[in-house]
Amino acid sequence: MIGIFYSGIGGLTEVRALRAARPDLSFVYLGDTARAPYGTKSPETIRRYAEDCADFLVSKGAKAVIIACNTASSLASGHLRARHPELPIFEVVGPAVRAALAASGTKRIGLIGTRATVGSGLYEKLLKAADPSVEVVARHAQLLIALVEEGWVDAPETASVVGKYVAPLREVSVDALILGCTHFPILKAKIAEAMGEGVALIDSAEAVVAEFRATLEADAAFEASLDRGGSASYFVTDPTPAFSAIGSAWLGAPIEVSKADIAS
Ligand code: DGL
Repeated sequence: MIGIFYSGIGGLTEVRALRAARPDLSFVYLGDTARAPYGTKSPETIRRYAEDCADFLVSKGAKAVIIACNTASSLASGHLRARHPELPIFEVVGPAVRAALAASGTKRIGLIGTRATVGSGLYEKLLKAADPSVEVVARHAQLLIALVEEGWVDAPETASVVGKYVAPLREVSVDALILGCTHFPILKAKIAEAMGEGVALIDSAEAVVAEFRATLEADAAFEASLDRGGSASYFVTDPTPAFSAIGSAWLGAPIEVSKADIAS
């Protein structure tokens, strides 16, 4: 079983991509909808939530965990690796860092994410560890999450807020911009327009899916350890008809969503 957790519904895009690639593998998804959003919470709280999510997935038989959320990856991936040393844990930050370094020629790299993700400093730390000459400009873009959730993708107000957030990144002419929040790829066209030509936009969700698939191909023992059968189960901490309806639409088939009793 492969466990995937996310603060809400967004991680289902990774489930969709992975199921399309490997329909024979079994998945269990947890959306911590009762306690979302994570991006405005303190590091201690995010770590506690991530701990609950990982423990829940392990209790459901997960033999590997994918942290689909940037905020939980930034604040809690090291913590979860220490708590579950036997468990392969995949997170979004490392793959996005590697993709950004590969895409950038000038080594001036931008990052936008939640307040907590940017505040954690993990992206800068990993970018600079890989290449000390890299210049990183990181800005939170907290308001974009609310605009996406409100469905204001094409609203002129959204274009103006995007422009305001990315202005400091344009000023220093970054040539790669990490979309360090799973909501931001939805605004990719707007962000690309605001950044201008010649800037590679790095989608962290795509990067972790690519890395997970590459690991399956490279590591036969790991691949063989995963359950076959192609089952998928979906849990949330606060079930709503909207989650089931949106999830079913995204995944192209009706999904049954159960309550996970972990939120305190
Ligand atoms: N999942 C978060 C992330 O990717 C965004 C939403 C939240 O704050 O929970 O950083």
